Amino acid sequence: VKYKVIVLAAGQGKRMNVGKNKQFIQLIDEPLIVHTVRNFVEDDWCESIIIVLHEQDKDEMLKLFNQYPWCNQLEFVTGGKERQDSSYSGLINIQANPEDVVMIHDGARPFLRLDHLHELATIAKQKQAALLAVQVTDTIKQKTEKGLQTLDRAMLWAAQTPQAFQYQTIKKAHQLAREEEYFGTDDASLVERYGKGIQVQIVEGSYENVKLTTPDDILRAEMIVKKRGVK
Ligand code: CTP
Ligand code: MG
Repeated sequence: VKYKVIVLAAGQGKRMNVGKNKQFIQLIDEPLIVHTVRNFVEDDWCESIIIVLHEQDKDEMLKLFNQYPWCNQLEFVTGGKERQDSSYSGLINIQANPEDVVMIHDGARPFLRLDHLHELATIAKQKQAALLAVQVTDTIKQKTEKGLQTLDRAMLWAAQTPQAFQYQTIKKAHQLAREEEYFGTDDASLVERYGKGIQVQIVEGSYENVKLTTPDDILRAEMIVKKRGVK
């Protein structure tokens, strides 16, 4: 199953607190965003890669990717204020047919596995929408007026990216969300809300598929890079 991917890198990385977009952080041998994009460059199923950038990072990003022989496979577009605006920018700029599989992925998640990408693409082709997720390992409590309640952990999943969709399904969901000015915390939540009758599928992923968010995540990520093997 062929797919296209939108890689979101247009945030500011405020919580990382390194004075620039966290996408540029060097993780052992390469910057974070290069680790991330490389997963897709190396996947034969991936036929097109769009990177969504912040205007202020454009020059530095282009210079960075120009060092790699595969940089001619990449396309770049400008993102928006919220993550959802950046996804939408990718969706309206991508060249795709209505039934093509399009993945949306956080630039800040560098550790993907080929088998998970392929399962995700396969399920999205069949069922229109799917995401990588892992079972939560903590016990989750809900605070209510009556006190605490313990949620059934077996039913709780931590959502990750990539999230994969039939192109027309995700584009339509984003358009409806824009009309209502509804902001979800991920792309799949828009299909849950607007994708009439579509059941978003879970593909069980890996606990290594972390998003680098705060400075503590950097050391952890460097350990994973070493474990997976430096290029
Ligand atoms: N992102 C984006 N456009 C935005 C906001 C976020 O493309 N307007 C991207 C980020 O670059 C990141 C991914 O979405 O790869 C997940 O977002 P997050 O981890 O929150 O990154 P930032 O928004 O950059 O970080 P922060 O919230 O700490 O500022
Ligand atoms: Mg953010």
